[in-house]
Amino acid sequence: MSARLQVSNLVKRFGGLTATNDMSFTVEPGESVGLIGPNGAGKTTIFSQIMGEHRQTSGQIHMGEQEISALSTPARIRRGVSRTYQVPRPFPEITVAENIRVGLMPDSVWQMVTRGADRDRERELALAVGFAEADLDRTPAELSMGDLRKLEMARTLATDPKVMLLDEVFAGLTVGEIATISALVQKLRDQGMTFLIVSHDLKALEPLIDRAIAIDRGTKIAEGAYSEVIADAGVRASYLGGGGDA
Ligand SMILES: Nc1ncnc2c1ncn2[C@@H]1O[C@H](COP(=O)(O)OP(=O)(O)O)[C@@H](O)[C@H]1O
Ligand SMILES: [Mg+2]
Repeated sequence: MSARLQVSNLVKRFGGLTATNDMSFTVEPGESVGLIGPNGAGKTTIFSQIMGEHRQTSGQIHMGEQEISALSTPARIRRGVSRTYQVPRPFPEITVAENIRVGLMPDSVWQMVTRGADRDRERELALAVGFAEADLDRTPAELSMGDLRKLEMARTLATDPKVMLLDEVFAGLTVGEIATISALVQKLRDQGMTFLIVSHDLKALEPLIDRAIAIDRGTKIAEGAYSEVIADAGVRASYLGGGGDA
């Protein structure tokens, strides 16, 4: 299942700072869009607003025909939007399988207690992102950064998303781990998943996206084919003048 994600005239102010400035874009069902821009450009803040972790100052967010911008985060997850975090955020004291279980039941810990484990589904999700059987009972402290990213993907997939938002999906990974995560994203794209992907590793990002949106200081500065966006004079200047992380 896939759905259209639409952001319309989104504004987010943190005190005097405008982190998102009249941002509008659409990600069509089955499309994969790269969201690029220097450090501090406002990429993560857009994700936080789509998920309802930060409430927008103004503007709307739609999933398909439905406006989701006033819903709680769990309600948005039920509508099919889900994200990974720039820094993986597993629960450290519990196993890989149990962390995936949390993703399966995003509404409450109570649900987990009353409904119990669906070990088959946890296993299926773990194997789908490339874990080995033996990893199911490991704790996050035992995992490499590549495995933590797999766990982020599995927790996100557990919510049965229609649109996946991936934040700095390659940060801290080895070349081999980048290849593994890329292959996973490609597999999901082939299955029709819709993606909005943030990555400062543009080389790794390029093959995973249909087009790119470049932002700087909260404002969209270019949108279109990756090669055109990356050649845009304003985009080049923003990277040189900004955080310089690409
Ligand atoms: N919770 C917050 N409170 C205040 N300022 C914030 C908060 N979150 C992000 N910002 C600021 O908003 C801007 C955009 O940040 P962010 O979305 O994290 O950028 P990016 O993900 O593109 O690096 C930055 O200037 C950052 O310092
Ligand atoms: Mg960020």
